[in-house]
Amino acid sequence: MESTSLSAENNALHQPVLLRTCIDLMAPAISRPIDSRATGIVIDCTLGMGGHSEGILTEFPDVTVVGIDRDPQAIELASKRLERFGERFHAVLTTYDDVDRVAAKYGDHGKVDAILMDLGVSSLQLDNAERGFSYSHEAPLDMRMNPTQGISAQELLNSVEVGELARILRVYGEEKFAMKIAQAIVRRRETKPLATTTELVELVRDALPAAAKRTGGNPAKRTFQAIRIAVNTELSVLEKAVPRALESLRVGGRLVIESYQSLEDRIVKDAFQRGLKSTTPAGLPMELDDHKPFLKALVRGAVKADDEELALNSRSASVRLRAVERVRTTPTHLFNPDYYRGDTL
Ligand SMILES: C[S@@+](CC[C@H](N)C(=O)[O-])C[C@H]1O[C@@H](n2cnc3c(N)ncnc32)[C@H](O)[C@@H]1O
Repeated sequence: MESTSLSAENNALHQPVLLRTCIDLMAPAISRPIDSRATGIVIDCTLGMGGHSEGILTEFPDVTVVGIDRDPQAIELASKRLERFGERFHAVLTTYDDVDRVAAKYGDHGKVDAILMDLGVSSLQLDNAERGFSYSHEAPLDMRMNPTQGISAQELLNSVEVGELARILRVYGEEKFAMKIAQAIVRRRETKPLATTTELVELVRDALPAAAKRTGGNPAKRTFQAIRIAVNTELSVLEKAVPRALESLRVGGRLVIESYQSLEDRIVKDAFQRGLKSTTPAGLPMELDDHKPFLKALVRGAVKADDEELALNSRSASVRLRAVERVRTTPTHLFNPDYYRGDTL
């Protein structure tokens, strides 16, 4: 049984972003008897504190949710929070590019009815000072979503050569002063390697021209975002995950994705575009069957948070929600064996 204090603490930690919209968008795919099955299967690719999963399990008493997260702490806390749903909830500790393997294990003939992704970092990770995600708390520079895998922010900052550091800051952080900051990091580590979040914040502050520090909040914000994305290889995992998620849906199944920065949203938009457009070569008088769109857009462009949502949750300020339904099987000429692998978990 869920403890009251855990539930209260979770709710305070994380109010699921656009929960009602996510539920309404998935509802047609999961709320009716599906083929011969009485129950729907949903994969929540970003379980976090289990807020969205709890909403789905509560609203649809026949639905099963499989929650994926790469963070062992999220898996542990969300599993406690969702214990009361018994066999209707399963947690899987892995990265979400394994969504197809998870569907192969828990889906109906390998397919599921809806998939949700609420990308990025969780309030749990940001608020736990010792994880090193936040520029407002003194902590060792870690930033790994799974602290048992990969290299920490400290190892990255103290080993990567200056050109690659500048690229990370420019591309993942959209940081205008990427080279200046990268050079300052390399100069600094020649005497004493960077070890804490506070040291990184101070270094960025010193490296930036005064004019650049006057607006836009903490000047280290973009650097922290960039390092976090690099440490967790977030974009390459997402690039693989979106097509695999689409391929894991049954026809009629729905995928809802919430992104919080333009690089993620671009990957989602591009992957959806490939399925929303006909690929019949221009000039042909009729549409070829195998080239018809295999996705239908469920919202126009990207949904943003309205004032009510913003008042509920400041994190929703940057959200861009996109949602599609799979209306056909994937045309064979778009089939990429690397994206759509068949092995099981
Ligand atoms: C914004 S939070 C999700 C919050 C959740 N929707 C809720 O309502 O509590 C994002 C979660 O996704 C996880 N995550 C980020 N990248 C991931 C990846 N590549 N694979 C699996 N989980 C990932 C993070 O560890 C974090 O717990």
